[in-house]
Amino acid sequence: MIPLADRFGRVATDLRVSLTDRCNLRCTYCMPEEGLAWMPREQQLTDDEVSRLIRISVETLGIRDVRFTGGEPLLRRGLVGIVRAAASLSPRPKLMLTTNGIGLERLAEPLRDAGLDRVNVSLDTLDPARFQALTRRDRLPDVLRGLKAAAAAGLTPVKINTVLMRGINDDDAPALLRFALDHGYQLRFIEQMPLDAQHQWDRHAMVTADEILESLSPYGLQPDSVSRGTAPAETWLVPGHVDAAGEPARVGIIGSVTRPFCGDCDRTRLTADGQVRDCLFATEESDLRKLLRNNATDAELAEAWRVAMSRKRAGHGIDDPAFLQPARPMSAIGG
Ligand code: 5AD
Ligand code: SF4
Repeated sequence: MIPLADRFGRVATDLRVSLTDRCNLRCTYCMPEEGLAWMPREQQLTDDEVSRLIRISVETLGIRDVRFTGGEPLLRRGLVGIVRAAASLSPRPKLMLTTNGIGLERLAEPLRDAGLDRVNVSLDTLDPARFQALTRRDRLPDVLRGLKAAAAAGLTPVKINTVLMRGINDDDAPALLRFALDHGYQLRFIEQMPLDAQHQWDRHAMVTADEILESLSPYGLQPDSVSRGTAPAETWLVPGHVDAAGEPARVGIIGSVTRPFCGDCDRTRLTADGQVRDCLFATEESDLRKLLRNNATDAELAEAWRVAMSRKRAGHGIDDPAFLQPARPMSAIGG
């Protein structure tokens, strides 16, 4: 085993696989109303191709965690089979999914049976009108039923990811935390990043980690002694509350922009069309699909992946005047 190491001493053990760039929501911070030009089918990796790359990453590159993302990964027809194939690998990786929750009601159990360990559900507000304004779809009840089904299926701890937008849902943090505490879900806020397809991100419009903390002050949050490690979320304890497992309840904040964690990054990314990205903000990608379809061996694919990751930059550089937003939007990279 030769791991995915870079020039700065980081080793990638966490693989994020985007299974589709399509989505059934149109979150304003992600996509325009009319959606995007979806990736042509023939460019997308087949189920077998995805599973082969996951196998190589686990067997020969030291990947220990695999997270399925999108677009919306529940829209990928072969999802359950891809999860099952990943769960049969040795050493068995931890398997996670980031979803908007639509369709999870139906899929939570089959996914658990296939070997999925946990889910993160994106939810930015509990107010149906705001949900509609933010996602341009009236699907809040679907998401809430999806959350319930995930917890019932044991895909725990169920985590909720929230992005706050100024003037839209920036006062929703306390209600979301109350909801999460009541249901035993773990809530994490993510600072909005410059990854929207419309390129309208504005640093000054972004709700910062400090502001989120301030809006949660009625909860009397306490610093968490558990160190952040390679996890991007900084966590706080919520006094007087326990989670579904009886542990002290926590709330997380992922300060991707104001408190970057690039120095501890342990991630590598694979897009639905078979490109390795060494960073969310990478401006270059490495084409594994071409190698795959030219009959490359496992060893050749592994080596191409290593070379791709060895080039990883020290940080995302959002604060650099020369920062360029990547050509691909979040929905085609995966979270
Ligand atoms: N900045 C931060 N988070 C984002 N997400 C989507 N776009 C952005 C962005 N520009 C979140 C979604 C979901 C996860 C995949 O990433 O809300 O929780
Ligand atoms: Fe879909 Fe996620 Fe983008 Fe919303 S943020 S449109 S749920 S891919």
